[in-house]
Amino acid sequence: MSSPPREQRPITLLKLAEKRALGEPIVMVTAYDHPSAAIVEDAGVDVVLVGDSAANNVLGYRDTVPITMDEILMLARAVRRGLKTPLMVGDLPFGSYEASNEQAIETAHRFVKEAGVDAVKLEGGGQMAQRARAIVEAGTPVMGHVGLTPQTASALGGFKAQGRTAEAAAKLTEEALALQAVGCFAIVFEAIPSAVTEALMPKLEIPVIGIGAGPATDGQVLVLHDLLGVYAGHKPKFVKRYADIRGESLKGLRAYADDVRAGRFPNEEEHTYSIPPEELEEFARYLEDEALVGTDTPWDW
Ligand code: KIV
Repeated sequence: MSSPPREQRPITLLKLAEKRALGEPIVMVTAYDHPSAAIVEDAGVDVVLVGDSAANNVLGYRDTVPITMDEILMLARAVRRGLKTPLMVGDLPFGSYEASNEQAIETAHRFVKEAGVDAVKLEGGGQMAQRARAIVEAGTPVMGHVGLTPQTASALGGFKAQGRTAEAAAKLTEEALALQAVGCFAIVFEAIPSAVTEALMPKLEIPVIGIGAGPATDGQVLVLHDLLGVYAGHKPKFVKRYADIRGESLKGLRAYADDVRAGRFPNEEEHTYSIPPEELEEFARYLEDEALVGTDTPWDW
């Protein structure tokens, strides 16, 4: 099997803009820990998002809302240690940037200083475009995110596609253009009809990365756990499974359990350490030495 083409030099914002201009699709994926980071690095992806989707994918929360800055920072630091090449983006958690420009700048700076991210992502347009502007002006690149924005999914009527009426598509357009105008270097389009995306693309000059937004975008992003099949159960319409990690893991664990229960593991020749016979004999004599057996017990239970 041939290995994927590798971009050896770190991916920069300029490189992403170049890719867009050349029509080279941008590949983005989430990662939340060090082993995943090492794998996505080797796979040659362009952008890695430490997504707030870590909340449900690795921390066991019901949705993305509860994850805190301290939790995502710990995950992001582990990812940072595994990445050399892709651009690393940290997702600002719900409640960490909405209240004021000052709060947004402070949170973005924490992400950069404490986890070494190259950029941050925030959800929504409107007032959030002002937060994006403040963060950009304070020195941190920002990726926008419009369409289905999971942090505010209940206000959007649930986890469903957005921009399915002319009015809703126009609102989405305004949000995307506002994010572009305030200096975002890229925008995620989530769960948007592909015809709306296609119609909107000529209006945008920055890379658009789609998730459930059709093929017209400049790149695609998927959640690592979705594309690798880490979980059984509901699969969003826009997810394509490229592996069955859960199935493979179950097979491996069941085989291990069977081997332990049947006494096949560990195997004396393959999985154990040896000791020279004379050392073993001496040790046996030591164990037989009566003076050692049942001597003063220091504890009084
Ligand atoms: O947190 C996340 O995984 C995301 C992607 C869906 C873009 O925001």
